[in-house]
Amino acid sequence: MTLLELNDSLRNCQQCRLASKRTQIVFGVGNPNASIMFIGEAPGFHEDKQGEPFVGAAGKLLTELIESSGLSRDDVYIANVIKCRPPDNRNPLPDEIETCKPFLLQQIDLISPKVICTLGNFAIRTMLGKQVSITKIRGQHFVVQGFRVFPMLHPAAALHQGNFRSLLQEDFANLRIYLENINSKLSQPAEQMGLFE
Ligand code: URA
Repeated sequence: MTLLELNDSLRNCQQCRLASKRTQIVFGVGNPNASIMFIGEAPGFHEDKQGEPFVGAAGKLLTELIESSGLSRDDVYIANVIKCRPPDNRNPLPDEIETCKPFLLQQIDLISPKVICTLGNFAIRTMLGKQVSITKIRGQHFVVQGFRVFPMLHPAAALHQGNFRSLLQEDFANLRIYLENINSKLSQPAEQMGLFE
């Protein structure tokens, strides 16, 4: 299955209650062969209307931060934990996350990014399967099913709480260093990476 086929198979998804209120599913956007994938929470008002993740105010900030890391929005892939907008932008419910999670995991497998950057609590909790708190674990890195996971604050948090903006900038500065480290390791012969130890 390709990413496009997965997207097509979900266009008329009726597997949870969110189907009745959405305008359309918001599958994801960006480079299907991206090395870096961002995972947010759920589509909001503008995303539901336009069918693209992170196009509202939080999206504008995310785009600025991506560019501050020396990347462009077209280089990366952006998706959400759940693909349909919860009414009134309420939090996703546990059963909605569980229903949508297999599609996120399929999406990750098809893109096969080198690094997955989770944005906020819902994305990191979904990836780790644990009720962690993003403010406590940001700065740590994880490997989940062979994928490197890099937890970051959610850009919307920085819009609501001014002091989070500098912490989010710090997360993106750390991402840049993390990516430089990974890239220099990947360009070394495998022996030096300890693969044959
Ligand atoms: N917040 C999210 O988590 N995802 C979006 O697509 C937009 C805002």
